[in-house]
Amino acid sequence: MSKEVQEINRRRTFAIISHPDAGKTTLTEKFLLYGGAINLAGSVKGKATARHAVSDWMEIEKERGISVTSSVLQFEYDGYCINILDTPGHQDFSEDTYRTLMAADSAVMVIDASKGVEAQTRKLFKVCGMRGIPIFTFINKLDRDANDTFDLLDDIEKELGIATCPVNWPIGSGKEFKGVYDREKQCVISYSDTEKGTKEGVATEIPIQDEEHLRGLIGDAAADKLLGEIELLDGASAEFDLEEVRAGRLTPVCFGSALTNFGVEIFLKHFLNMTTPPLPRMADVGLIKPTEHEFSAFVFKIQANMNKAHRDRIAFMRICSGKFDAQMEVRHVQGNKVMRLSQPQQIMADERKILSEAYAGDIIGVFDPGVFSIGDTICMPKDKLAYEGIPTFAPEHFARVRQLDTMKRKQFVKGIEQIAQEGAIQIFTEMTAGMEEVIVGVVGVLQFDVLKYRLENEYNVEIRLENLPYEHIRWIENKEEVNLEKLIGTSDMKKVKDMKGNPLLLFVNSWSIGMTLDRNKGLVLTEFSRN
Ligand code: G4P
Repeated sequence: MSKEVQEINRRRTFAIISHPDAGKTTLTEKFLLYGGAINLAGSVKGKATARHAVSDWMEIEKERGISVTSSVLQFEYDGYCINILDTPGHQDFSEDTYRTLMAADSAVMVIDASKGVEAQTRKLFKVCGMRGIPIFTFINKLDRDANDTFDLLDDIEKELGIATCPVNWPIGSGKEFKGVYDREKQCVISYSDTEKGTKEGVATEIPIQDEEHLRGLIGDAAADKLLGEIELLDGASAEFDLEEVRAGRLTPVCFGSALTNFGVEIFLKHFLNMTTPPLPRMADVGLIKPTEHEFSAFVFKIQANMNKAHRDRIAFMRICSGKFDAQMEVRHVQGNKVMRLSQPQQIMADERKILSEAYAGDIIGVFDPGVFSIGDTICMPKDKLAYEGIPTFAPEHFARVRQLDTMKRKQFVKGIEQIAQEGAIQIFTEMTAGMEEVIVGVVGVLQFDVLKYRLENEYNVEIRLENLPYEHIRWIENKEEVNLEKLIGTSDMKKVKDMKGNPLLLFVNSWSIGMTLDRNKGLVLTEFSRN
């Protein structure tokens, strides 16, 4: 096997999805600890320091003390080279969070054991579900009082529509947390708390058949409950089936406590065992296999103004096949240009490392002189292929943009169009109008502030945003077949078009969507656009 194939095969690229506060950062930190990428617990986090240093490129982030950007972490563990795609954890997440999921081959879903499935997890899961990528669940915070285990699994199945298969099973929770039962090994692993340690604590393993020891270790009540639950579980839960896991229809579930360092390494090992090397990706010329094709990549995110003085932009690409060498020439397919990628770098939590080579599965950031767009393909000069585009996701908040100084019309249009092209916001206009009436749509409300701030600071244009009541947007899938003028909507519905001229409908509530569909037989509406 060539070195290139070996390197690609040992890559694992995944995103972590969760609702804020479920423990995503803590879990990531423990992963890095095992991989030796950091030496001390708290290096990723330590909220007041390191966490902000990660991406303090924009004043707004500093002011709010939150991160609106996502970064990539790479570390080695057990012969694997792991890329974790961090998705912004704050409620005000943006379309970038969704796009990041397009670059992952699988996802780790972190759930707080006392909360179950929460809103943001639901949204992120939907995007993973759309792609059919494998999802691995870590139910966290068992050191605190947790919901009933069967209820937690039920919640995942009902809320997300994915079958669950527990890899292990918790014994009690909170003060009564005794450890987990490993279903494959058929033994109990006792709870040990090593919050600050670099490895999990020394846990005792007792075979479930050794009832005397078991009762001695966890007590009679917990042992009786566990034995009953195991019996129930073996009869009720879905059979483990790797094919189903890889198709994203069955999620393996592990329990633990990221904070106290229990169950994390068990989870990581199981996860690495089950997940795949970089997956093939569909392009217009067919499926591109990572190890059977020379270098190719697609842009999934563009981040502007990492350095305000230079108005620089970084384009993030996911390498889909082959090996990238910093010296080589590549083709930017959409721009039809052969070029060298400038300053290829790996954006780590708090540092940027210029790199000379990278492999399929890796994420690289390159300096973008304003030529790349989200979804663009980069490949070898002799090749011509284009990866499937990245969908545009439905914004959930809308506002009308009023320009305060009408003399600056040109700067305003240029600024708002550029910011929209980077994918931070989406802009819409009335069906018949031009740029004089602009409606802006965002996935997370923080993007409104980002827009206002950037227009003022970079384009010297002041705006006022008037919030609009719309919460739902739908693209018209069969626009060729629909006569827009005759379309009968609800009184609260608004017809608009996007930058590419696609017609869209804005709704205040989901009820109106159903009503409009009822009133216009044959109308097909979608929540994201592939155009
Ligand atoms: P997030 O990235 O998903 O938003 O969550 P994060 O890891 O920041 O964790 C949110 C809070 O939950 C933190 O507490 C963290 O210490 C705590 N936490 C994470 N995992 C566990 C766990 O397994 N058990 C318990 N008991 N707590 C856990 P905080 O008080 O908000 O932050 P800090 O002051 O501890 O830094």
